[in-house]
Amino acid sequence: MDERLVIRGGRPLQGSIVASGSKNAALYALAATLLTADPVTIHNTPAIADIGEMADLLRALGARVERSGDDVEIQAAELTEHRAPDEHVVALRASFLVMGPLLAREGEAACAAPGGDVIGVRPLDVHLTGFRALGAEVVRNGAAWVARAPRLTGARLFLDYPSVLGTVNLLFAATLARGTTTIVNAAAEPEVQMVAEMLNEMGARIRGHGSNTIEVDGVERLHGTEFTVIPDRIESGTFLLAGAATGGDVTVEGANPRHLDSLLTKMNEAGLDVTAAGAGIRVCRRPGHDLKPIQLQAVPYPGYATDLHAPMAAMLTQAHGVSIVLERVFENRLLYVGELRSMGAHITAGGQSVMIEGPTPLFGANVRALDVRAGAAVVIAGLAASGETSIRDVIHLDRGYAGLSGRLRALGADVNRI
Ligand code: EPU
Repeated sequence: MDERLVIRGGRPLQGSIVASGSKNAALYALAATLLTADPVTIHNTPAIADIGEMADLLRALGARVERSGDDVEIQAAELTEHRAPDEHVVALRASFLVMGPLLAREGEAACAAPGGDVIGVRPLDVHLTGFRALGAEVVRNGAAWVARAPRLTGARLFLDYPSVLGTVNLLFAATLARGTTTIVNAAAEPEVQMVAEMLNEMGARIRGHGSNTIEVDGVERLHGTEFTVIPDRIESGTFLLAGAATGGDVTVEGANPRHLDSLLTKMNEAGLDVTAAGAGIRVCRRPGHDLKPIQLQAVPYPGYATDLHAPMAAMLTQAHGVSIVLERVFENRLLYVGELRSMGAHITAGGQSVMIEGPTPLFGANVRALDVRAGAAVVIAGLAASGETSIRDVIHLDRGYAGLSGRLRALGADVNRI
């Protein structure tokens, strides 16, 4: 389907929206259900395409999956397949997360190198080295990685890089291993913390999640649970940046300020008024004050999130002066730069760094959502631009933002999906 998002920009966004459940945390929670034969209910899953993809993948492995509104009920009583079918794997990076549970529970798992956004090479060595250290034999069979172990054994795992999916996969594997596993240089992202809490509610024995050393005492089996997904910090941040770029006043209800320290600090530095309370986050311009330029680096949590790099760059086109953004997580996160240039932005990329000279009046153009967050950047630019912006490849936006056009309209934007 050749759908487009058409934005007539120049209107300050005003008002409140409610944060959706976290896309990535919900994907991890869905994969976690493969670790038990009992039913698991997950609340607050976002209405995005990736959740449907993961649900189909779990069904293909033999699980019963029922979605009703934001709730998903899953029971993987018996797993009939140990290899993730390729058609699901190409569509979704998180599909590789079935490896840890299948290996731990069934003793065998296979999955091809997964798809997802084209934002970098995205290797799998952290996952595969970790599985081997836990005692699995890991071999390549054509496009698929195959891992086997009658029962995994706990070990001390040092991760070369604090990979988010790598940490989650190894956490899954370690929950049912014999003995204790220590994951050193683990990812500390809130989504990793959440899935560890969910696993503990299923009977796992995990400590230290949220820090960079996680310890897991393996158990014989996990049981069912009912769990609510945390709010999506990246979606919340995107709406707050959109509000700021248009000179508006936006509140995201339910957003957790503790998960957004890095963004809120940078927004403060840029001269925005940030009010963060338990109930949500509000960001608006300080009356009579221009947006100021800033410098930031996208790094693992709790540093500035790579997923909020492109949306922030779009906002910085409206700051008075030169801003610098350095991308240190993915090597191909700068796809949005060319699109913003075609809308009039003074933005240049050299290596992994981006220089933005502002403020530049942006104008509407025909642009593409080249990946989910590059797509968010052109949406923000379109909202701040004069005239009409037409965005192709909206399928990328659907992967990360539930009901995007309706929610932007609720904030006063002129946005239509055609
Ligand atoms: N890396 C390795 N070896 C590995 C795995 C990763 O060197 O085995 C490197 C990658 O090359 C990359 C860096 O580690 O340079 C970060 O990759 P990581 O594995 O942490 O990312 P990911 O787990 O594949 C998740 C999210 C991304 C988010 C990143 C970083 C999902 C499905 N994806 O990816 O989200 O940007 O963590 O926080 O959870 C998005 O939502 O748009 C998105 C891309």
